[in-house]
Amino acid sequence: MSMLTITGGKPLEGTIIVSGAKNAVLPIIAASLLCGEPIQLEDAPDLLDVNVMSKVISALGATVERDGSTLKIHTREIDCIEAPYDLVTQMRASIVTMGPLLARRGHVRISHPGGCAIGSRPINWHLKGLEALGAEIKMDHGFLDVSSKGLKGARIYMDYPSVGATENIMMAAAMAKGTTLIENAAQEPEIVDLATFINEMGGKVRGAGTSIIHIEGVREFHGTTHTVIPDRIEAGSYLLMVAATGGDVLVQNVIADHLKPLIAKMEEAGIRMMEEDDGIRISGKGVYNAVDIKTQVHPGFPTDLQAPFMAFLTRSNGTGLITETVFENRFMHVDELKRMGADIKIEGRSAIVQGIQRLNAAPVTATDLRAGAALILAALTAEGTTCIRGIHHIDRGYEQVEKKLSQLGANIIRDE
Ligand code: EPZ
Repeated sequence: MSMLTITGGKPLEGTIIVSGAKNAVLPIIAASLLCGEPIQLEDAPDLLDVNVMSKVISALGATVERDGSTLKIHTREIDCIEAPYDLVTQMRASIVTMGPLLARRGHVRISHPGGCAIGSRPINWHLKGLEALGAEIKMDHGFLDVSSKGLKGARIYMDYPSVGATENIMMAAAMAKGTTLIENAAQEPEIVDLATFINEMGGKVRGAGTSIIHIEGVREFHGTTHTVIPDRIEAGSYLLMVAATGGDVLVQNVIADHLKPLIAKMEEAGIRMMEEDDGIRISGKGVYNAVDIKTQVHPGFPTDLQAPFMAFLTRSNGTGLITETVFENRFMHVDELKRMGADIKIEGRSAIVQGIQRLNAAPVTATDLRAGAALILAALTAEGTTCIRGIHHIDRGYEQVEKKLSQLGANIIRDE
């Protein structure tokens, strides 16, 4: 099993460039199924999840070619309506192919995606929204068989501002007859980037980034070139790593506005950051105050930065309280951090983190993508050499992680 070997104690210094956003490019690749003309995506990160999504749309009839960080996609015809079981079970984000397939072909068969380490992750709100647009849904031997004789615009009030459900409904509504209103919609920056992409193809989506999204259906789309927004979660993970190691780094290709909740909390902890023309300069000297965080939907503190922030808090001066409100089981990293000497107690959906002087190296395993980032941060600060297993989770969302960190002076080796 491949692993990362990290010897802690070195402050990170230099410049790091953030890649395009995984959680923006995945729905955008799915949305390319709406269009019969060539699509070009710039700043498309070369990640496991992006490769899986590319395979999913290829199985449905698209051609996908990668040229560095450019993805060239062309879906002349959708010649298959069944998303491959083994790919969908590998990556639940494949579920957002339902909306565009319904819109373009009127039919989709997809296995019900499983849950994962962080929770059961049902898709009831996806299905409720598609039914509101006129889809008929049947469960057939573990597969969802979703069809429609023609989607019609509707007014949809989301029970919860689910990111994936908002994306699926937006893509289906983009070709529905008439107007769709999504109320209590997710407001994440990745939703805005998806809407921007749909509009660049000739769509009519208004209000993305607010809780009310207004969509006029169109009959067809034209080709376009789109540059994916920077990955705010990757950027936030590296900002926390620099702070935790007491380093001094310029983090480039960042939209500071997308990171407001994290920046506010890091400044409350006593970390100095400066917005510069091409990024954020962070110098993380000294000891930090412990702070409390509560994860919420955007524009609240992002759940995807909860694990890296917890690892950072283990170095703070005092006691911090972390409350996870988005996923029911997103504390899998706690046991691994405790193996490194962290003092963390879980009480229901909260974790109480008592800062200590220094963690100790220990063999640990990443249980999910963001837990992996937390363990890298912990290893970069710990006394000794830490081996992190399960790094395929990390490769799902952090492009060339060991190369980027080595360039900042980290002592990190990937052992295949
Ligand atoms: C997206 O997942 C992201 N993934 C997640 O990032 C992120 O943590 C999450 O949004 C929240 O911001 C991608 O964009 C590919 P949700 P998604 O639907 O769409 C429940 C990472 O690390 N729910 O907003 O699945 C669900 O179980 C990943 O990059 C239902 O109950 O998130 C969860 O508890 C992890 N029924 C909550 O809502 C539904 O129909 C939020 O889920 C849909 C969701």
